[in-house]
Amino acid sequence: MQLNGKRALVIGGGGGGIGRAVSAAFGAEGAAVAVADIDLGRAEEAAEALLQRGATAYAVSGDVRSLQDIEAMVAAAVENLGGLDVLVTVVGGQVAFVPAVKLHEMADEDWDTIYEVNLRYVARAVRAVLRVFLDQGSGGAIVSVGSVTGFMAAPQQAAYGVMKAGLLSLARTVAAEYAGDGIRMNVAAAGAIATAVANANVDAEVVEEIPVGRFGRSEEVATAVVYLASDASSYMTGQQVVLDGGVSVRGPFD
Ligand SMILES: NC(=O)c1ccc[n+]([C@@H]2O[C@H](COP(=O)([O-])OP(=O)(O)OC[C@H]3O[C@@H](n4cnc5c(N)ncnc54)[C@H](O)[C@@H]3O)[C@@H](O)[C@H]2O)c1
Repeated sequence: MQLNGKRALVIGGGGGGIGRAVSAAFGAEGAAVAVADIDLGRAEEAAEALLQRGATAYAVSGDVRSLQDIEAMVAAAVENLGGLDVLVTVVGGQVAFVPAVKLHEMADEDWDTIYEVNLRYVARAVRAVLRVFLDQGSGGAIVSVGSVTGFMAAPQQAAYGVMKAGLLSLARTVAAEYAGDGIRMNVAAAGAIATAVANANVDAEVVEEIPVGRFGRSEEVATAVVYLASDASSYMTGQQVVLDGGVSVRGPFD
């Protein structure tokens, strides 16, 4: 089991898509998991599923738009799990929060919303767990779920792309500043993954543009998150793993 003995906080871990798949994979790989979500019912469901499989799990509620809530999520995870070794940030997106429109049509407050739910909270959560990791003195791993929009154009999702690009910048700085403390941060950048949000908003013709010929599965993203959280990736920090079925490397020729 790749995460045996690790204590992990998964922010957004109650979600039906990648969040739930990460929580499940962490439990299956031996981690004790604090599942945090704005929807306590979902967090409890995810935690219950882990408990039933014999894993250690707790549900924590909180809104990532609130600094107080983020600090409370981290404190609750530390208290319930007896410390913390891993932070995963899953919450994010554009179309789930504000309309997809071209840049000149975007409302200023929508840009702020996308900042709050994709990047500001990650920076806040990272700062909070860095303090815990440094106090514990035993290192730690941080994994953020990113997107190909962070390094490709993001038509009608400009703010989303900018914030996802910010995750990689943050990971690089965490790498440079804290590698000596045994603390690593990496990004799992996803392409089109078959979740409720993606299915409702992405035209089926998109599939034809994916070299692998299908949307990705949440479990395929979770596998990479497990790797980045585990000691198997101990020499990797400040990087991203791309899970996009080949979309980002496809050239213009068949
Ligand atoms: N679905 C895709 O195709 C795709 C592609 C690339 C990247 N991603 C990224 O994957 C991540 C997960 O996306 P998903 O669609 O699988 O979602 P998901 O189903 O895992 O759900 C995410 C969870 O976040 C929670 N949440 C929402 N707002 C919150 C808040 N303010 N505070 C706390 N929790 C909150 C929701 O309740 C939900 O349970 C996002 O970062 C997204 O940008 C998804």
